[in-house]
Formats: sequence, C-alpha cells, structure tokens
Amino acid sequence: MAAVRASYVCGVAVIAALLGSPGLAFVEDLDDTFKDTRVNDVWLVDFYAPWCGYCKKLEPIWNDVGLELKSSGSPVRVGKMDATAYSGMASEFGVRGYPTIKLLKGDLAYNYKGPRTKDDIVEFANRVSGPAVRALPSKHMFEHMIKRHDVLFVYVGGESPLKEKYSDVASELIVYTYFFSASEEVVSESVSLAELPAVVVFKDGSYFTYDEYEDGSLSSWVNKERFLGYLQIDGFTLYELGETGKLVAIAVIEEKDPTEESGRLKTLIQRVAKEYREHFNRDLQFGHMDGNDYINSLIMGEVAVPSVVILNTSNEQYFLPSEPIHSMEQLVQFISSVLNGSAQAYGGDGIIQRIKRVAFDARSTIMSVFRSSPLLGCFLFGLPLGVISLMCYGICTAETDDGTEDMDGLKREGLTDEEDEEEEDDRRRAAELDDMDDGENEEEDAREKDPEEKKTD
Ligand SMILES: *[C@@H]1O[C@H](CO)[C@@H](O)[C@H](O)[C@H]1NC(C)=O
Ligand SMILES: *[C@@H]1O[C@H](CO)[C@@H](O)[C@H](O)[C@H]1NC(C)=O
Repeated sequence: MAAVRASYVCGVAVIAALLGSPGLAFVEDLDDTFKDTRVNDVWLVDFYAPWCGYCKKLEPIWNDVGLELKSSGSPVRVGKMDATAYSGMASEFGVRGYPTIKLLKGDLAYNYKGPRTKDDIVEFANRVSGPAVRALPSKHMFEHMIKRHDVLFVYVGGESPLKEKYSDVASELIVYTYFFSASEEVVSESVSLAELPAVVVFKDGSYFTYDEYEDGSLSSWVNKERFLGYLQIDGFTLYELGETGKLVAIAVIEEKDPTEESGRLKTLIQRVAKEYREHFNRDLQFGHMDGNDYINSLIMGEVAVPSVVILNTSNEQYFLPSEPIHSMEQLVQFISSVLNGSAQAYGGDGIIQRIKRVAFDARSTIMSVFRSSPLLGCFLFGLPLGVISLMCYGICTAETDDGTEDMDGLKREGLTDEEDEEEEDDRRRAAELDDMDDGENEEEDAREKDPEEKKTD
C-alpha cells in the first residue's frame, strides 16, 4: 500500500515537473545584467520576494502568461527578478511591494494594478506593448471596436496639435484603456461633429466630445470618462475610481434577493446618471453595490439596505440623505446639496478617524479569526489576555493602591471576573472619575491635533 502510494506521489511529481517546465522556459530569470540587455525589447517583469505568499501564488499564473505570450507570437518577453537579491536594480525600477508587475518599454515603465489572472495580465501586456494610438482604417473596423469596447476613445481628424496631445495622453493612460484614431469618413455615420479635429468617447449608447474650455486638460477628461456612466461597483472599482477625483454616488442594494425598494432605488440612480449627465458627470460617478458589507467597513458604521451613499474618495468623507429617497427630485436635491457643500459630511481622514480606523481594523481582524476558527481565536487572543489578567491580578494583590487603576481599565472592558466585593464601590467611583478624565483628554487632543492636521494637509 505504502509503495503504491509512494510511486503515485512520484508519478504526480514527474508529471508536474514536465508540465511545469515548458512554462518556465518562457519566463526568464533576470539578474543585474538585465539593465543593459533589456533596452531593445519590451519586457513584462514580475519583481518578487522569495518569502512572499502572493508571489508564490502568482508563479504558476506567471508561467502561463509566459507560455501564452510566446505561443501567440507576442514580441513581449516575460521575466522575473528576485527583488531581494537585486535590490538596487529593483529600487531603480521603483519597486516598493511584492509582487510588482511592470511592463518596460524603452524609457517607459507601466505598473500593472489589475486582477492577477492570466487573461487580465496578457490583455494588459498586449494593450500596453502595442502602439499608444491605434488607427481604425475602415468603417467595418470601427463598428467592430464599438461592439467590443464599452468605452472607446477615438481621435477624429488629421495631424494637429490636438493629435500630439492625444498621443501623449494615450502613452500615459494606455494602462487603463485603448486609444484609437480615425478619419472623418470612418466615423461619419455614427457621429456629427461640429468641429474637427475632435476627441470623442463612445459609451452608454451615445458619444461625448472633449471640450478644452469646459473639460480642462485632456488627460483629466480621459481619466474621468474612462468608466461607463453607471457601474456595478466593488472594492476594486472604488479604488480605481479614486484616481478620477470624482465623488461616487452608490445605491447600496440587495442583488441576489432584490426587494421592490432595491429595484426602485437602482432604477432611480440609473436614471439620474443618464438624464442629469450634463449636470453631474464632471463631479460624480454613479453605480450600485451589492450588499452593505464593504461600505460598512469603509465608513466604520452601518448603512441601510437599500439606501444611497455618496463617497468622497479623496478625503474619505461620506454623505447620507437626511431622509429615505423615494423620488428623482429627492435624489437630485441630495446630490446638489452635497455638491454645493450644504450637506452634512461624515467620516474624513482626520486624526480621530485614523485612530478609529486602527481600532476598527484590529477589531475586524480579531472578529474574523474568531468567526473562522474560534479555537485559534481563543488561543491567539485569549491566552495572552489570560496571562495579562493574571499578571495584573498579581500586581494588584501585591501593591493594592497602584494596581486598582489597571484593574479598572480591564474591568471596564469586561475582561476580568468580578471579585473583591468590598472594593467595588471605591473602584466604581474611581472609574467614573477616570472616564471623565479620559473624555476631557480626548477632546483636548482633538483640539490640539486638528489644526496641525490641516496645516500638514
Ligand atoms: C472631496 O475631497 C476633496 C479633497 O479633500 C475636496 O477638495 C473636495 O471639496 C471634496 N468634495 C466635497 C463635495 O466635499
Ligand atoms: C444647496 O442645494 C440644496 C438642494 O438643491 C438647496 O436646497 C440649498 O439651498 C443649496 N444651498 C446653497 C448654499 O446654495
């Protein structure tokens, strides 16, 4: 039995090695000669640390990426570099965390921040390694691309200063989206443009034209327009939206088991996104989120489901309507009050909020350990607390006067057993005094520290 098992294990190991090796052949191990040898090629590099768990998880995916790019005839060469062994080189490339995925193309280095799946990484490599602006030579090609891309940027016209600007923006923002160019004839059936040349984005079943005077710089316009007008939002989308500097208006709803109210709120916010685009598009992104777990942990509170919340991702503030929203007018009014500054802002990134965040994160970590494995939770947190309690008890019984305060601290948290009935009253009085002190100190701290915060910001 044992022998059969052993040979089975060996067999699996051999097969795994055989399967693994073709992948490995397409991923080159890079060392410090890379700086000189790389110049003529486009490289996709995984900067890893041998001890990092996420890097180990990426490794098989990375081998597949190497295989896929090689077999599809891509000119992109795939490599990996132990950033701890060649730390000088890694820091030259601006590597700060592990794994860091970069596409290196001449003087330019593009960071990959998307999901770590083979398809997403290969798509990124193909997009970024190609020309920054791709020409659409025919109507047929244009129609094909419109169908394939939810959001499509097209420069329309001949050579011009605007086209140069467009190329510059494209070579920077190609990490997010494709950029195309076309002649007027190619797009003439789909758009009527007042002026040429023009930069147009096709999305939401319509198209919108860049206006230098109203929209500011082309790059900030592209950054704001590269999302659909209405999105399904998750944590990653929210993080991406942060770079647009827009507020995010979210309908928090139940998707799996939608109530009538959920459906109505979603429809309302979709309609406002579409019908009030002219008013709100520059400042706001619209969408919905399934369930309130993510939002709750973000605002360290609890929002109702369904409800509407507006987030300012730049300063972590959020806004809630003063009463439940039932109509378009109410929603539009709520958004206007946020934009004109008359709505009450909650949260923020001040010192108090940051302290609250640390406590909140610690609590969530402890809760999640307890939830997934109560025994481990007891061991990890219960044992040290038990030891600390015992030590405190030891100190208290040894030097009664100094010890009372410590005990009270623990007692208020409910961490020690009730004992020593005689001293109970004294302690309670001491605790009350203590509480008052604490309260005052906190306020003082806030007063002292807040102005500093503003100065540094
Ligand atoms: C969002 O935060 C930014 C950065 O602090 C701030 O300039 C902007 O006014 C805020 N927007 C609103 C509507 O509060
Ligand atoms: C802000 O907008 C709200 C909603 O439209 C309006 O009621 C309020 O008067 C406005 N406040 C200011 C200061 O403009």
